[in-house]
Amino acid sequence: LNNGLARTPQMGWNSWNFFACNINETIIKETADALISTGLADLGYVYVNIDDCWSTLTRNSKVQSRPVTFRLSKFSWLVVQGDLVPDPETFPSGIKALADYIHGKGLKLGIYSDAGVFTCQVRPGSLDHENDDAELFASWGIDYLKYDNCFNLGIKPEKRYPPMRKALNATGRTIFYSLCEWGVDDPALWAGVVGNSWRTTDDINDSWASMTTIADLNDKWAAYAGPGGWNDPDMLEVGNGGMTYQEYRAHFSIWALMKAPLLVGCDVRNLTTETLEIVSNEEVIAVNQDSLGVQGRKVSVAGTDECSQVWAGPLSGNRLVVALWNRCSKTVTVTAKWEALGLDPTTSVSVRDLWKHKDVSGDVVALFSAQVESHDCMMYIFTPNTVSRYAI
Ligand code: DGJ
Repeated sequence: LNNGLARTPQMGWNSWNFFACNINETIIKETADALISTGLADLGYVYVNIDDCWSTLTRNSKVQSRPVTFRLSKFSWLVVQGDLVPDPETFPSGIKALADYIHGKGLKLGIYSDAGVFTCQVRPGSLDHENDDAELFASWGIDYLKYDNCFNLGIKPEKRYPPMRKALNATGRTIFYSLCEWGVDDPALWAGVVGNSWRTTDDINDSWASMTTIADLNDKWAAYAGPGGWNDPDMLEVGNGGMTYQEYRAHFSIWALMKAPLLVGCDVRNLTTETLEIVSNEEVIAVNQDSLGVQGRKVSVAGTDECSQVWAGPLSGNRLVVALWNRCSKTVTVTAKWEALGLDPTTSVSVRDLWKHKDVSGDVVALFSAQVESHDCMMYIFTPNTVSRYAI
């Protein structure tokens, strides 16, 4: 979407993966503080995104010019009007005050609604309330809207998501628009002109099986990502406890390489050293935020059960990012062949290891191999020493 935002994938934090509905304004403020004190904000994690459950179960009684009516039966209609209201128990100061706090820290505030009658946790949705809700969000100083897909009355996402785009535009405030349509109706094919990112899959959960399945599904849509609009394989689970250090490192490496949004989904107020080390790897973040904005892909698969995988993509300055990923449980040698990378076989490259933060000694030609432990992922930047052409 050409609204000046998302020239590189969005970075920040979202409440859902760790807190689900157990959120309140104190958690959001403390998270903003923690993004600053851990140094994550300085690395680019600037969006603080509130997910489902911030609002009351019903709208207030404000009379709107065009109340929404639903026909319940031949003789009864449900008339829905009024504004969304922050839950007074959990967000007593209101969202405007929270936005002021977040902006005071140099960060940006995201909110959540749903392109349906209710949100997934059965708070009021924004379907047919797009203009009023967008105006309300803009008046609070909201910078980012995640727009979910529950209770959608069976209407196609292609129909339900554009009205909110129009409504956000009409507010005059620049608001990041994140479509959360769960990959329904192949959004990569139509969402590029609607939003700044679109979900390509169902929800992630904190497991190796979920993370790898989602990576493979998201890979299919690589050609459709680029500055202004990104494929979204869902938020990060790094730090939530369900995967090993190696698996989380693979998760972060592949999400960065796929130009996925980097939205941390753990409790950043209580980060372990390992989690912080992973999500604050500046060299991996730089791959994600590279100005060329091309999504890397799975370029070769070898071994029984497709254990040895190479994922790669072009970066600015004629460089390549190359990940050697072991998808099985015993140590394997993973080999990247120049052919699979689209490099001329005679091209010599210098190799930088992004997890060891070291240059690999000597120039490399034709192929590059490494031993990769169970479920781990090595990540490199290849800089050609000779002129070459890329086909990926
Ligand atoms: C479904 C979405 O895909 C999740 O990311 C989260 O927003 C939940 N709904 C909230 O109910």
